[in-house]
Amino acid sequence: MTDDSSTPDGPQRVAVIGPGNVGSQLVRGFSRAGHHVAVGARDTAKVADLGELAGVDVLDPAGAAAGADVVVLAVPVRALAATLLGLGELDGKVVVDATNAVSDACVLAVEGYDTVSDYIAERAPGAAVVKAFNTIGAEHLADGTIDGTPVFLPVAGAESGRPAVVALARSVGFDVADLGGPEAVTLVENAARLWIHLAFRCGWGRDFGLGVLRP
Ligand SMILES: NC(=O)c1ccc[n+]([C@@H]2O[C@H](COP(=O)([O-])OP(=O)(O)OC[C@H]3O[C@@H](n4cnc5c(N)ncnc54)[C@H](OP(=O)(O)O)[C@@H]3O)[C@@H](O)[C@H]2O)c1
Repeated sequence: MTDDSSTPDGPQRVAVIGPGNVGSQLVRGFSRAGHHVAVGARDTAKVADLGELAGVDVLDPAGAAAGADVVVLAVPVRALAATLLGLGELDGKVVVDATNAVSDACVLAVEGYDTVSDYIAERAPGAAVVKAFNTIGAEHLADGTIDGTPVFLPVAGAESGRPAVVALARSVGFDVADLGGPEAVTLVENAARLWIHLAFRCGWGRDFGLGVLRP
């Protein structure tokens, strides 16, 4: 693991693109933690209720991304290319890849890439792409704890983006591990595969999170 002592503190300007299961829970968590949140929705009327949360505005995706330093992509993998095209200029921003290529359509969409984050980085070359928030069921994303115990949340990706993402995840309550650069993104994607396998193949259901023990 890397030294993340330079992690920034304080409120951040975050856009969450795609207010579905994952996006809406992240918005709740970031709002509760005191961040300035812009929800990027194609149909703003449908998710107007999110705008009643503290510090949250509901905008179109491009408007949400424009005013943010951190842009979280919480859309299906097959929708990433169109979503990124619609967001406009992302140079200098941190782009968080919260996706999982789980269905056949998603896997096909990113065929030829080692990770979904690589696919995103090719389409947003000026952004710092970081993988996070994909290793637990959406319903636990607004609060990084289960029964008071912080859930393990691995983060990996571009060096310049990781401190902000680590700080965001910690502010929501997760037990965050900074795994390092883009070469470690596969580990984060595989951690999600482990969660999905336990949930659906092993019959654990969705109500659990990954954890590590350390002194
Ligand atoms: N569900 C989970 O427990 C979970 C956990 C971890 C990670 N993930 C990953 O997180 C991502 C989002 O999952 P989710 O469960 O939140 O999905 P979801 O409930 O279907 O929400 C996806 C959102 O993406 C937006 N979107 C933009 N373009 C789209 C398109 N062409 N088709 C469909 N939606 C489009 C939609 O919002 P607008 O209509 O407003 O644009 C929609 O609300 C996926 O990559 C998934 O693998 C899911």
